[in-house]
Amino acid sequence: MARDEKPIIAIDVGTSLTRVAAGRIDERDMERYLDVIALGQAPSASVQRGIIQNPEEAAYSVKAAFEDAGIDGKYRDAKVYAGIGGKHIVSVNTSGEAVVSRNDGLVTEKDVTRAIEASKGLRLAADVQALHHLPRSFYVDGIRCRRSPIGMRGVSARADMHTVTAPSAATANLRKAVKIAGRDVDWIVSNVVAASQAVLTREEMEMGVLYIDIGAGTTDIAAYDGGTICHTSSLPVGGNQIVTDLAAVLHAPAYVCESLLRERANGDPKGYKGDDEMLVPTFGIPGQRRVRLGAINDIIAMRIAEMLQMAVSRAKEAAPALSFSAGIVIAGGVARMPAIDMLAERVTNLPVRAGQIPVRTLRTEVGQDPAFVSLLSVLLAKADPQFAPLKEQRPAHQSRLRLLPIFGGARN
Ligand SMILES: Nc1ncnc2c1ncn2[C@@H]1O[C@H](COP(=O)(O)OP(=O)(O)OP(=O)(O)O)[C@@H](O)[C@H]1O
Ligand SMILES: [Mg+2]
Repeated sequence: MARDEKPIIAIDVGTSLTRVAAGRIDERDMERYLDVIALGQAPSASVQRGIIQNPEEAAYSVKAAFEDAGIDGKYRDAKVYAGIGGKHIVSVNTSGEAVVSRNDGLVTEKDVTRAIEASKGLRLAADVQALHHLPRSFYVDGIRCRRSPIGMRGVSARADMHTVTAPSAATANLRKAVKIAGRDVDWIVSNVVAASQAVLTREEMEMGVLYIDIGAGTTDIAAYDGGTICHTSSLPVGGNQIVTDLAAVLHAPAYVCESLLRERANGDPKGYKGDDEMLVPTFGIPGQRRVRLGAINDIIAMRIAEMLQMAVSRAKEAAPALSFSAGIVIAGGVARMPAIDMLAERVTNLPVRAGQIPVRTLRTEVGQDPAFVSLLSVLLAKADPQFAPLKEQRPAHQSRLRLLPIFGGARN
């Protein structure tokens, strides 16, 4: 049994909520587990569409989330990983090639490292930094390798990579907000990369799949084909937009529309009685309006359908050869809507399932809550072989992580 005693702290500064978790990765019986030690959340301040506008204000939310989790000032030796999302996180596919150095033509780790280094040669704007260089495929003399190219024989090795970038100002603001809240960030990870890697199965990645996280301010997507990531991006739409649209139609305050979205929406048209009516507080006289729940549900379903169609079109535009044979996996707070998978299947004509982090015992509901996928996956990210392609080539069954939460304070 190997146990990494050092806890990890994960932070997800979302548009609506700032969530934090503390956990440990535990290796037992040839499997890795994540012990979730604590969870907490607080409303986000000064975050628009996933982007921190004012780090001083955002720091209050981070601090409040630490306090909610009961970890403020605790676990001083913990590594701190922060997730980042939003439309400013963009991706590009790059390639690099290296001549095989050994006389007998055997490809070495050094050759592959040189090919990966060569793939990083893209010129980034001065105010942009690379977050991840993820391996897509390796080739030796133009022939694609199923796994690592190390040990194969040839003249040249090529690395096809997926590079995810973020504006330096966005990462600096995230670091600053966490710093003011009392911690140093050790690593910044793309939320959607971490989440898709934690949630998708090898088979889905192999067949072609689109991972979609619909949050409050953004819809983040990651597409996989042939076993590896080929596209990530973010659309500036989410639950907030549904709330704004409802408010415009009903002339009702945003908090009322937010609770209609959270409590009344259903992806199955049979999930509500079309004739059911309710009184909704509205602006003006007489201050209340009788509305049909079916009509509200139709508006919400239409908006979600548009977001899903936008996500599919964006992925197809960026990667036209994508097949999506394994369909769509959906997460984020909006994916809490009952029967959203049915709605998404109707709209996209693809198989759809909800994204979850597998949890084995206690507090299983947190792993099943699509709104927590992004946060928990940040805890898992460092253990994922995709983030350490050469050192940790594990068989697929060993790279699936299981979670063992112990206790926590996650609430809606
Ligand atoms: N049961 C529900 N049905 C539909 N929508 C819901 C439900 N519960 C929460 N939401 C919506 O989910 C959104 C919040 O999702 P999430 O917590 O993933 O966002 P975030 O991480 O703060 O934002 P982002 O990822 O966009 O920066 C809100 O718009 C909220 O109204
Ligand atoms: Mg989010």
